[in-house]
Amino acid sequence: MDFKGRSFVDLSDFSRDELRAMLDKAHELKRKQKNGEPHEILKGKSLAMIFMKSSTRTRVSFEVGMTQLGGHALYLQPSGTQLGRGETIADTAMVLSRYCDVIMARVFGHDEVTGLAEHATVPVINGLSDYNHPCQIMADMMTIEEHKGKLEGFKIAYVGDSNNVSNSIMQGCTIMRMDVTIGSPKGYTPTEDIIKKADVLSKTHNTTVEVVNDPTEAVKGADVIYTDTFFSMGQEKSKEKEDALMPFQVNRSLVGKANKDVIVMHCLPAHRDEELTSDIMDDSKYSVVFDQAENRLHAQKGIMALIV
Ligand code: CP
Ligand code: NVA
Repeated sequence: MDFKGRSFVDLSDFSRDELRAMLDKAHELKRKQKNGEPHEILKGKSLAMIFMKSSTRTRVSFEVGMTQLGGHALYLQPSGTQLGRGETIADTAMVLSRYCDVIMARVFGHDEVTGLAEHATVPVINGLSDYNHPCQIMADMMTIEEHKGKLEGFKIAYVGDSNNVSNSIMQGCTIMRMDVTIGSPKGYTPTEDIIKKADVLSKTHNTTVEVVNDPTEAVKGADVIYTDTFFSMGQEKSKEKEDALMPFQVNRSLVGKANKDVIVMHCLPAHRDEELTSDIMDDSKYSVVFDQAENRLHAQKGIMALIV
């Protein structure tokens, strides 16, 4: 299977077999890393990393990942580059393509990352936009496989604010044949457009995708419970939204309503005792949040190994 040169912007751009190949490569590279086996398959390659928003995991895991693959990563922020002075996304894409072999970008509007991908002559990787977060969900699916042995047939319940992370769950987990339930209060559910796209994917892959407004109903029969911040980067905080989302907090009572061997996930950073209680986040019987964080490194190495 050859998809060298393709950008990684949205999980629905890839087939089930292609996502499978990237996950397999990620598991293989993780094994090699743990066993101390050299795997400098991107020796001499350079990765440009554009960050329009803050990051800990994405920045460090991409930079360390590229180093482990034998390449080099450059950290670029608008304030330190001409992007901050109005050079266009298109021109930036064309210039960076003359120096680098791959570009990763964390942006506000999704059109900024699609614009980069359109104008770059090297692959572009989406490191989070307001619309989606595909690298995160690759790491998450890798983590579910490690803890549960497979993805197919398991139910994932995302509870809380519908956002970039839940949008990518609705795509990636559906393509990999998990059943997906989103539990969000009215006013904070996925957009019609996202639901329509997920419906099409679920028909193709013979799975279910549903949106409910009750947290207990959402986690019933769940093998995985996932949550994320009430307020994503760039969103204004409001008491109204917090009040609407508090009943969707992932706490011991909610976890007790899912399957007995449920695992609890969060992309991090977490706002302890808001969307997720510390009690659950620190309980190793359920919480796999730091495995998810680690797997960002391995999953992204898998992606880069196949597209660069
Ligand atoms: N989960 C995630 O993308 O974390 P950062 O914002 O720290 O990169
Ligand atoms: N939904 C969060 C994810 C952070 C990794 C945000 O966009 O801020």
